[in-house]
Amino acid sequence: MTDEQKPTTNATAIPQDDTPTVCSYEGSNYQKVFWDTGERRYEDAAEEVALKRLMPPHGKLLLELGAGAGRNTPRYAGWDRVVLLDYSRTQLLQARERLGDSPHYIYVTADIYKLPFVAGLFDGATMIRTLHHLSDAQTAFANVRRVLANEAVFILEFANKRNLKAIARYLFGKQKWNPFSKEQVEFVALNYNFHPKTVRKLLKENQFKLAKQLTVSHFRVNALKRRIKHETLVALDSVLQHTGRIVQLSPSVFSKAFAIGPSPRVDEGAFFACPICDTSLPEAGQSQHCPGCNHLWEYRDGIYEFRTHPEA
Ligand SMILES: C[S@@+](CC[C@H](N)C(=O)[O-])C[C@H]1O[C@@H](n2cnc3c(N)ncnc32)[C@H](O)[C@@H]1O
Repeated sequence: MTDEQKPTTNATAIPQDDTPTVCSYEGSNYQKVFWDTGERRYEDAAEEVALKRLMPPHGKLLLELGAGAGRNTPRYAGWDRVVLLDYSRTQLLQARERLGDSPHYIYVTADIYKLPFVAGLFDGATMIRTLHHLSDAQTAFANVRRVLANEAVFILEFANKRNLKAIARYLFGKQKWNPFSKEQVEFVALNYNFHPKTVRKLLKENQFKLAKQLTVSHFRVNALKRRIKHETLVALDSVLQHTGRIVQLSPSVFSKAFAIGPSPRVDEGAFFACPICDTSLPEAGQSQHCPGCNHLWEYRDGIYEFRTHPEA
């Protein structure tokens, strides 16, 4: 199994009533074992370069989808407020420990398939290393588009099935699945790699206009990472990222798209929307009963709970 085919962590499958199963990182030590050991310093640095290139330096309200332990959040420092959303409460507790409590950060446990916000709320969204766990990208993109304002920016990273290593493995008979076919491949339960053309099509179908694509992590090969100086690899990757405009053959692809078409105007004070009955709720900084269905949405340890079936 190659590095990009390995499941990234000890994630748990959480079945839902009417939306796809969630791959939750509840209780996972992902940040510690995947990033903090330094083994993926190159990938982290390559992603930082891509984000600097794609992310508008300033903005008002940003939604970070699948924020995990907040590895990327400091990279959005120019935005007035960032909503860190993840299905896993323990990931958000780690994020809160790293970033602290401030009006700048809003922590929300919720499912990307049932985003608990009023339509048209956000000026931007990011989804990094998270589409990788979504079986139903169509529903996910439709949900993301719903909560974005017109012309909001959407920065998306996805795992590319048509990468050079996968192509070579396929041609030499070491891998069964075809990296050129358009359907997503589930190489381990709830871990998906996508074809770039499919992602572009899904973005278009969900009212996103693609502005730019960068290929990232071209040198995700342990032998290279061991032998070539970190700074050299990152510099080479930085140059090669621009080839993403023409062809995408790297294991990771970053895209910048804009929400097009109308989005509703957001009423004064409206922020959350009940994931059960869609009634609008304020960002109250406390637990609140939904006036529509009377469900109690808790606010605990600085985290808004909007999962319909929280595990804890
Ligand atoms: C591989 S981690 C990436 C974390 C972070 N974006 C990063 O790059 O360091 C994927 C995260 O997505 C979250 N996730 C997966 N499916 C989700 C869903 N349906 N709704 C909300 N979060 C989800 C997981 O709990 C996990 O924290």
